[in-house]
Amino acid sequence: MGVRLKDKVCLVTGSSRGIGKAIALTFAREGANVVVNYEKSRERAEQVVDEISKMSRRAIAVKADVSNKVEVDTMVNKALHEFGKIDVLVNNAGIAIMSPSILEATREDWERTLAVNLLGPYYCIQAVAPYMIKQRYGKIINISSNAALGTIGRTSGKAVAYTPAKAGLIILTKRLAFELGKYNINVNAIAPGITRTEIINIGRTPQEVEELLKEKARSTALGRVAEPQDMANVALFLASDESSFVTGQLIVVDGGRFDYLSHSQ
Ligand SMILES: NC(=O)c1ccc[n+]([C@@H]2O[C@H](COP(=O)([O-])OP(=O)(O)OC[C@H]3O[C@@H](n4cnc5c(N)ncnc54)[C@H](OP(=O)(O)O)[C@@H]3O)[C@@H](O)[C@H]2O)c1
Repeated sequence: MGVRLKDKVCLVTGSSRGIGKAIALTFAREGANVVVNYEKSRERAEQVVDEISKMSRRAIAVKADVSNKVEVDTMVNKALHEFGKIDVLVNNAGIAIMSPSILEATREDWERTLAVNLLGPYYCIQAVAPYMIKQRYGKIINISSNAALGTIGRTSGKAVAYTPAKAGLIILTKRLAFELGKYNINVNAIAPGITRTEIINIGRTPQEVEELLKEKARSTALGRVAEPQDMANVALFLASDESSFVTGQLIVVDGGRFDYLSHSQ
């Protein structure tokens, strides 16, 4: 067990599985108590809580749809009631909805994607920041995506509303870093490259997933795709006091992605 987050209270949205789960477990291993948020996967969230309890840290599973302001406020109140404070907020919950093309994406696709991936982090920050301001301490980490970086090839996937939402989250990070810095609150973002989690299965057959992973590994300097732990390691740095003079930054954690076609010619 480490001590880099000793006795800190961390709320990780969407931590029933994938990257959020890896972050929750990593934080607990470093001494944190954790609020494990989920929307649908109650059993899996409870398993994460059990794993954390085995490390002699405290955790609670809280169901809340981050796109619902009332549910977010209730979740934050539960966390404060249980632990008395929140030191670290990780806005990790996210969804991808596939559409055949940008012109065929429906209004519902856009609304749901923006609601979960952009409004959700905003609601969570709005609910948590007043307590961080009061305690003059806080770390906010937003999980964006390297798909939001604006390179033509990278933004051409079928989750058409996803990249604008994730790009918005980067700008929100910078704006909030400016607004909250005077209260000793650091706000940073991580842009993961493709990471082996369930989100990449959406709208793809298992064979298509394997092909995608191979193609992405080939066009990555390190020659592999990411595991959730790769993101958790960087989130740990941003949550710890080792990053106390880092704010408003986007850390791209994609193993060195390059445009395969242009580099292979
Ligand atoms: N994997 C990648 O390649 C990749 C790349 C770039 C960025 N990202 C970003 O990384 C983050 C984590 O994704 P992941 O890859 O770990 O995906 P994942 O395995 O699909 O996990 C998504 C998590 O978000 C939760 N969630 C979804 N909608 C929610 C809502 N409305 N309210 C609360 N929780 C909700 C899910 O909870 P339930 O289990 O209860 O549904 C689950 O815990 C996302 O923001 C994603 O966009 C992922």
